[in-house]
Amino acid sequence: MDVRTAFKEGIARLRVADVPSFTLAAELLLLHVLGRNRAWLYARPEEIVSDAERQCFFDLITRRAAGEPTQYLTGKQEFWGLEFEVTPDVLIPRPETEHVIEVALDRLALREIRAGRPQKPDGAGLHVADVGTGSGCIAVALAKELPAATFIATDISPAALEIARRNAAKHSVAGRIDFREANLLVPVGAQHAAPLPGTLATSAPPPVPPSPRTRHPSRIFDLIASNPPYIGRCESPSLPREVRDHEPHAALFGGEEGYELYAGLITQSAQHLKPGGILVLELGHDSLPAVQPLLETPDWAGIAVTNDLVGIPRVIAAEKI
Ligand SMILES: C[S@@+](CC[C@H](N)C(=O)[O-])C[C@H]1O[C@@H](n2cnc3c(N)ncnc32)[C@H](O)[C@@H]1O
Repeated sequence: MDVRTAFKEGIARLRVADVPSFTLAAELLLLHVLGRNRAWLYARPEEIVSDAERQCFFDLITRRAAGEPTQYLTGKQEFWGLEFEVTPDVLIPRPETEHVIEVALDRLALREIRAGRPQKPDGAGLHVADVGTGSGCIAVALAKELPAATFIATDISPAALEIARRNAAKHSVAGRIDFREANLLVPVGAQHAAPLPGTLATSAPPPVPPSPRTRHPSRIFDLIASNPPYIGRCESPSLPREVRDHEPHAALFGGEEGYELYAGLITQSAQHLKPGGILVLELGHDSLPAVQPLLETPDWAGIAVTNDLVGIPRVIAAEKI
């Protein structure tokens, strides 16, 4: 069988199975099996596919037709121009989450301008948290953009943290991101509401007498970014099978309504951000009315909402007073 025939047959099987973007899915799976790029595929349609490659390709087509997402079959997804390893232990990074990166970098740049410093900060001295890191896409993308910043990336899922660590290593930022198992910002197993330690050092620093600068030792972050689970369990029946049956439920569902995790996330962020620190949160398609009032308190200023490319309020940002 040649490449053209395998490709056409793959497309036909996915179309019959009602797979969205069936041509793209067949193309990605074929390129994955052949270890080739798009240009090769369209330039060499007459090349012969080996029996092993054909078997492997049609096995993947069968799995895709049954609902497994293409990215879990190929093991990768691009985000912010970087390739991330993905497995069923992590949410597949979405394009709309790139708005979190854009807003975070814009707000940091604005802060620098206000302080009379260069407009493109390298992150020197900045300590950043990514809450619910999943594949690590937010922490890694920000670490690439802020090459002097240090990071803590938390997740409640140890399996997700393993993937995130691998992605940080793949992009050479592992030395600056401390991955921690935590419930939002509270380390798993820690005393209720114990603050997340702020340094990357393993040994505790010697005690310092309180001063105006150290009076709030848990206020350590300049930026907290998060794409928390925000889908309501009540919406589960309407989700595409690729999402509902294959992506981790801990990454999808924020509670019965979906927005339940935001209150804790905002309260903890207020405790852990430095004055002037920035909070950037991704929003579910209908989360804004539930989330914005949580920020309209004396703790926060400079609330701004950013729409995604289809006009849905997708990111909310605020500055800690
Ligand atoms: C929507 S996914 C986001 C993953 C990744 N940041 C992204 O944008 O693709 C949410 C992540 O939060 C994690 N998570 C869920 N509940 C959590 C909690 N209470 N504390 C920390 N992480 C949590 C999930 O395991 C999942 O990896």
